Amino acid sequence: MSHSYSDQKVINPATNPSFDEVLTARLSRRGLLKGAASLAMLGSLPLSLAGCATGGLKREGIIGFSSVPLSMGDSVRVPNGYTANVLLAWGDPIGHASGSPAFKQDASNTADEQALQTGMHHDGIHYFPLPYSSDGSGSSTSALLAINNEYIDEGLLHGDGFANWSAAKVRKSQNAMGVTVVEVRAGASGSWDIVRPSRYARRITGNTPMGLSGPAAGSARMMTAANPGGNECLGTLNNCAHGYTPWGTYLTCEENWDNFFMNSGAMTPDHTRNGITAKGRGYRWHEFDERFDAGKHPNEPNRFGWVVEIDPYEPQSKPVKRTALGRFSHEGAWPSFGDDGRLTIYMGDDRQFEYIYKFVSRDAWNRNDRKANNTLLDNGTLYVAKFNDGSGEWLALEHGKNGLTAAAGFRDQADVLIRTRAAADAVKATPMDRPEWIAVHPATREVYCTLTNNSRRGVDKSPGTNPSNPRAANTFGHIIRWREMGGDPAALKFQWDIFVMAGVPDHPDPAKRGNIKGDAFGSPDGLWFDDGGILWIQTDVSTSVLHTGDYERMGNNQMLAADINTGEVRRFLTGPNGCEITGVINTPDGRTMFVNIQHPGETSSERNDPAKPKAVSSWPDGVSGGRPRSATIVIRKNDGGVIGT
Ligand code: FEO
Ligand code: CA
Ligand code: CA
Ligand code: CA
Repeated sequence: MSHSYSDQKVINPATNPSFDEVLTARLSRRGLLKGAASLAMLGSLPLSLAGCATGGLKREGIIGFSSVPLSMGDSVRVPNGYTANVLLAWGDPIGHASGSPAFKQDASNTADEQALQTGMHHDGIHYFPLPYSSDGSGSSTSALLAINNEYIDEGLLHGDGFANWSAAKVRKSQNAMGVTVVEVRAGASGSWDIVRPSRYARRITGNTPMGLSGPAAGSARMMTAANPGGNECLGTLNNCAHGYTPWGTYLTCEENWDNFFMNSGAMTPDHTRNGITAKGRGYRWHEFDERFDAGKHPNEPNRFGWVVEIDPYEPQSKPVKRTALGRFSHEGAWPSFGDDGRLTIYMGDDRQFEYIYKFVSRDAWNRNDRKANNTLLDNGTLYVAKFNDGSGEWLALEHGKNGLTAAAGFRDQADVLIRTRAAADAVKATPMDRPEWIAVHPATREVYCTLTNNSRRGVDKSPGTNPSNPRAANTFGHIIRWREMGGDPAALKFQWDIFVMAGVPDHPDPAKRGNIKGDAFGSPDGLWFDDGGILWIQTDVSTSVLHTGDYERMGNNQMLAADINTGEVRRFLTGPNGCEITGVINTPDGRTMFVNIQHPGETSSERNDPAKPKAVSSWPDGVSGGRPRSATIVIRKNDGGVIGT
């Protein structure tokens, strides 16, 4: 259900690149035995990627904190010498000029009130200094925070859950998702507050009008009864992780948007390939908002599954879905900047056996006039990754190339983009173990990607292992990294290796021990480089398996810091019960860190019983609160130093 549905159903029918043959060839060449020894070997292939990692950094990030132990406590724990405070929880008013309705602990706030309050299930987050600065510096005390609100738990959102289901409840659900923009300011002591009211405060929801642009906009497949032009839609859904542009816009990414659809009529191949089912996943929106019945409105799903660009500095601006970046379960959209000023955006498709993509802009961005970049993300090339034996290549998803022709069933570029997964299947991209976040090293441009887990890898009739996804029944996940040819983000070839295989060092099954140097973790998801080159790893062990089976001794979800030069991984934070840790960003001076705690109190079914909302957690409000709430927290070092050092 809901978010981690991606761990429960394979929707990629492609059998193309099962790389068992490649792996077998590789291992036999190296004279390795099967099993744990070969995994360990793959995990430590020297790629000569490190070494120059500290050159060119804004500051040097040497990990300097004491490791935090695993925890099953209902609180946020950070190292000695650090303090974490709650800044902005679900339901807190954002400070909009129309009003600041207070959160009601019994969840009796209306849909209209929710539209003026922080959304639910915080995920990706970015810091936009006030005022805008084009060189990546800017204020470390005044800013806008853009925060994704990924999905909803109806058992917490409404006092009586799905009982008395109504149009008003559907509208409240839609208003609890999307993006929250707030203005924040640091006080003299380093404490942070929300500025209320603020002209920048804004909610973007499942019903906010937004434009469609790029090659797929206006195509026949985008047209609906409500929008015959195929150029405008209502809302953004399941906003998982994020990205940003150097011209100061926020990219929010539509991940498991298909969860909100059902289909009472004929299922198209594209509906199926994107995970839509006849019954839907129980959100029941279609009962009062017919567009979520894909049988009645077969093109409505085509208007979701995109990357959306939002200008937080212009609160009246209309968000735009950028179709040139492809359509799938977008985890995030992370930029890398080429010497020529063109922008490359790395993107994962978080489903079992789906792919890693990148978009390369046709044009260089304009540093002097941020508005001149309004259509920069509409022109460029979308590529999908093929991981060979230590090297890799980017295959263009361009109509007329690589077999993506009319004869092969692709009408035009709009069709290639709307059916991105089918195009990637056709060019024989490498199916991965659920690509989540991607992080680009600030000096070397080396790219790291979390492959969170894939319990079906090599199980039953599912695709087998391949060099880049070398572990069958991969319950712990791994982090892969690559370096583009010549250090150019736009290059068509790369070299890769595996940075770390996650696991439990003393697991009885040697294949599940991984090769972590330091603290144990599994299901890596959030991933981010700070300006000092520390790699921050956040985990999302699904609540359906948390504290059981392989995860019996792993504790609550956590955040760790990795030194990519030594490979050491050290635990920095543990979260409250039932939560996932996702989303992290620092101020430009590195002295304040914002982290999101998502879905504290989530049950193993991922939906709370409305009669017992505090069954798993009462974080952050404790005894005085009525229900757990996702929240952004602020972390400071007590001596005011740089976080992590
Ligand atoms: Fe929303 Fe794949 O995490
Ligand atoms: Ca994620
Ligand atoms: Ca995840
Ligand atoms: Ca989760």
